[in-house]
Amino acid sequence: MAEVILSPSLLSSDFSRLADELAALQNAGVSWVHLDVMDGAFVPNITFGPPVIQAMRKGSTLFFDTHLMIERPERYIEDFAKAGADLICVHAEATVHLERVCDMIAKTGKKVGVALNPATPAEAVKYLLPQLDLVLVMSVNPGFGGQSFIHFSLDKISELKTMIRTCGSKALIQVDGGVTPENCADIVGAGADVLVSGSAFFNFPPYAERLKTFQKACAS
Ligand code: DX5
Ligand code: ZN
Repeated sequence: MAEVILSPSLLSSDFSRLADELAALQNAGVSWVHLDVMDGAFVPNITFGPPVIQAMRKGSTLFFDTHLMIERPERYIEDFAKAGADLICVHAEATVHLERVCDMIAKTGKKVGVALNPATPAEAVKYLLPQLDLVLVMSVNPGFGGQSFIHFSLDKISELKTMIRTCGSKALIQVDGGVTPENCADIVGAGADVLVSGSAFFNFPPYAERLKTFQKACAS
């Protein structure tokens, strides 16, 4: 099995020192960073948008895993692509024409992701799997860090894994929300390829040690 990718969610980092945090992640051996974009409409919280991502891009070569929790993301795909996102992940629930948005992302040359809220069934992406690089299974209701993992997400991950294998898709399964060293082995066992962790990562420096803790726990 390929090694699990850990994508620390910058939402739990120190926003007054973003450049330092990105450098610290890179020095710790992390390759992806998860950027949570919230609009105060799709989710009850507001974070940052393309200008901040563009500023971060200047000082970092990390893979920018961009999770858009925004209504009608089709309005901003071009902006996030130009700002330097490497993967653009939109919510299935946030747009009426999901296939069209995925096509828009692909045309920018960026990796294409679709996120599913906890109550959204895996079937919502069934026909799109061949054109996706990643499916994000939300294991909490999006909007905030520090929430507890919703257990039925494990069933959805397994279902998606079977669907992805059946259709021969290259899509990775990413899991976001309440992921910790205590539950990551079960999540990977169910079929996850990429784990997002905010509070359980940033609250436990040094980052290189924490990365190792996650890697060991995932392999156990
Ligand atoms: C929640 C965000 C997550 C969040 C995860 O809406 O999408 O990426 O940062 O935080 P933890 O790992 O603390 O649940
Ligand atoms: Zn996220």
